[in-house]
Amino acid sequence: MEGLAWDDSCKIDIPLIDERNQRLMEIAAKLQELAAVKRKKEEDFENIGEALADIMEFARMHFNEEERILVGKQYPELNQHKREHKRFIKKLMGFRRLFSEDPAKVSDDATAYVASWLPDHIKEEDARYAPFIRVQNYLAECQAMGRRGRS
Ligand SMILES: [Fe+2]
Repeated sequence: MEGLAWDDSCKIDIPLIDERNQRLMEIAAKLQELAAVKRKKEEDFENIGEALADIMEFARMHFNEEERILVGKQYPELNQHKREHKRFIKKLMGFRRLFSEDPAKVSDDATAYVASWLPDHIKEEDARYAPFIRVQNYLAECQAMGRRGRS
């Protein structure tokens, strides 16, 4: 499994979103690091469980925030984007439910899932709306300048 790391290829050039995505990647990298320990002790699994909870909590906050921006800008592919977010949260909820039964297996499966979903989502789905948001921001700026020019 490839190590998760934030780099310029993850940037979509919307500062708030980049900041949140970077944080999410950092939490996911922490999970990956914890899951990579060969002979895990009980406390290692506790830490993995906590990392899973952290990812879910931060992802929920970030997805809500991102969706509010997309609603505000009337992004035409909003529903598809929301579905992707929902899929991720649902999957993580499932992992967390099963975690107490078989932590060793679940921590590997959950880590693999997060490590593949997250960079893909940022580079494909988030990157897809970025130009749209930039154009909308530009148009809003032009309108504001027009209003200032007239007054
Ligand atoms: Fe997203």
